[in-house]
Amino acid sequence: MKGIILAGGSGTRLSPSTDSMNKHLLAVYDKPMIYYPLSVLMLGGIKEIMIISTAQDRPRFEELLGDGSELGITIVYEEQHEPKGIPEALLIGESFVGDDDVTLILGDNIFYGQGFTSLFRKALQNNEYATVFGYRVKDPERFGVVEFDDGMNVLSLEEKPSEPKSDFAVTGLYIYDQQAAKFARKLSFSDRGELEITDVNKQYLKKNQLKVQLLGRGFAWMDAGTHDALFEASEFVKNIQDRQGFKLACLEEIAFYMGYISKEMLQKKGNDMKKTDYGQYLLEIASRKHNRQYWDDINQHPVLGLVNNE
Ligand code: DAU
Repeated sequence: MKGIILAGGSGTRLSPSTDSMNKHLLAVYDKPMIYYPLSVLMLGGIKEIMIISTAQDRPRFEELLGDGSELGITIVYEEQHEPKGIPEALLIGESFVGDDDVTLILGDNIFYGQGFTSLFRKALQNNEYATVFGYRVKDPERFGVVEFDDGMNVLSLEEKPSEPKSDFAVTGLYIYDQQAAKFARKLSFSDRGELEITDVNKQYLKKNQLKVQLLGRGFAWMDAGTHDALFEASEFVKNIQDRQGFKLACLEEIAFYMGYISKEMLQKKGNDMKKTDYGQYLLEIASRKHNRQYWDDINQHPVLGLVNNE
């Protein structure tokens, strides 16, 4: 399984904050936005990841995350020249994905909740063709919308419908088999002038090959695509972190608990950043004597807990 994070786009909805800065590098509370989708892929056990941004922004992502070796993963970079739509990521990443399956995640999507990793891992394991994740929202007309019956069979999919057939948004996390790029190649531009990921999903649906997995009441899903959403996401992350003392989307913590990096690597990173709360957090993890005990503790961890549920 390969992973792709799409972090291009024009970011116009966040202007002027994004006039000289890629949206996905803006902070969601105490870390760059891209950490959140990257943490999702890492928690799913996906170690080969492509980050797609713009030609202008690519060097900044490279500077931030390098080749991934400090996290024990591989990160490669590609460019999307114009924001023609989400499915373009499948074409840009086609040779990187090769004969594998691929998980595509949008760079502004944040997932959080007890059991998320386990649910995501199960979905990865069980995926036959394509899986999308549905989440109940108050404003479905802003999203891709999925309608399904009691047996969880998908009945319809619509992109930003004025009269939504359900309250369930399709989140920006998609698991696809090898057909995805072929489907993306067939698309034509929608009325809003974009290639639509919903149209890729509709092709799976037409073949009866689309599964929907719901993220229930206990989950938080946010896309940080507007000023309000970004502010709310930051507040949310701060509240949870202050309350529990666990950080969300701390990539080095995840890499350590996944066994991708050693305690020495964690310590080194912590020392490099020791003037920050983030660095102190890494040093605290590295200094724990009884890691097994903390491994057990993280069974209760809303994000990391799933690692233990295998
Ligand atoms: O967040 C979930 C929603 O994302 C889904 O429910 C919709 O079905 C899907 O179309 C998408 O809707 P948005 O209107 O929120 O997409 P947006 O244009 O905001 O782009 C989402 C992310 O993808 C954002 O981080 C920018 C990036 N992007 C988008 C496009 C169109 C690119 O990097 N390149 C692009 O060409």
